[in-house]
Amino acid sequence: MPQIVEVFADGGETKPDKEDVSLRSRLAKRRTHYNGGVMKIALVGDLHFIAPDVSARKRRQRRRHFAEAWPSFARVESIVRHESPDLVVSVGDIVDWYSDESRDFALERLDALKPPWLLTPGNHDFAPGGEDGEPRTALVGPEEIRKRWEARGVALGNRSVEADGVRLLLVDSPDSSVPEGTAAWLRKETEGSARNILITHVPLNVPEMADYILSVEPQRDLRKYVQSGAPRLFEEAVRGRVEAVFSGHLHFPGKVSADGTDMYLLPLSVRAVGKTYKGQGGLCILDTKKQAGDMVRMLH
Ligand SMILES: [Fe+2]
Repeated sequence: MPQIVEVFADGGETKPDKEDVSLRSRLAKRRTHYNGGVMKIALVGDLHFIAPDVSARKRRQRRRHFAEAWPSFARVESIVRHESPDLVVSVGDIVDWYSDESRDFALERLDALKPPWLLTPGNHDFAPGGEDGEPRTALVGPEEIRKRWEARGVALGNRSVEADGVRLLLVDSPDSSVPEGTAAWLRKETEGSARNILITHVPLNVPEMADYILSVEPQRDLRKYVQSGAPRLFEEAVRGRVEAVFSGHLHFPGKVSADGTDMYLLPLSVRAVGKTYKGQGGLCILDTKKQAGDMVRMLH
């Protein structure tokens, strides 16, 4: 039975027999049910989970629209059960802000989906914890937060996943930029691979995407809502190499095309409470056996 192999930009790869604190072991323990031929992937949009027992009560109350949204994730669970994908990929913001409680709560929800799952982290996954008004000096910083995700087996960095002739490129972009060396890594990864799909939290910086975002919500600051810190990534390493790009971050759905690459925005995959986000509760099923254009289904 073929298996999904995950290769890390830092040189490692999935090691099914080796116990280590990374997704390598998480993925290996969940050997995918894969019958060959069809690689079906469920792509999940922003979730913004907040643990019911999180210690920051005032902050939780202020973010009630997300704090009370988690039961609606049952809809995603039932779609995933029905569709039975080989793999689930989250485009990030699985928590509203980082706390150990919300991290564990989010992992429980995602682990309850049967297939193995992977993450490209979002800005909220690194947002410091703490109560409203708490001095920032008392809070853990992004480096410590990164370690705490990794301590629970969640990989965050640039990785590629090879499955049945299709390469998934998972790009780390929570701060609207990408790690140094990402363009060179993408060029190398796409070299010998005919079909490539890129997944990342913040949309790539292309005029078509910027225009679309502003056409839906003109007040959006493009320094934050496209990869302003990697302004030429598309020209340098994606154009002509990648057939589709999937992102979250905006909390509304959409699709644009840039020089032959389809770029999708995923909506929230939970339904907020007392607040409405366009397309909320949706997710995307990607059938890589089909060619670009036919391979994507948005479900609500
Ligand atoms: Fe988000």
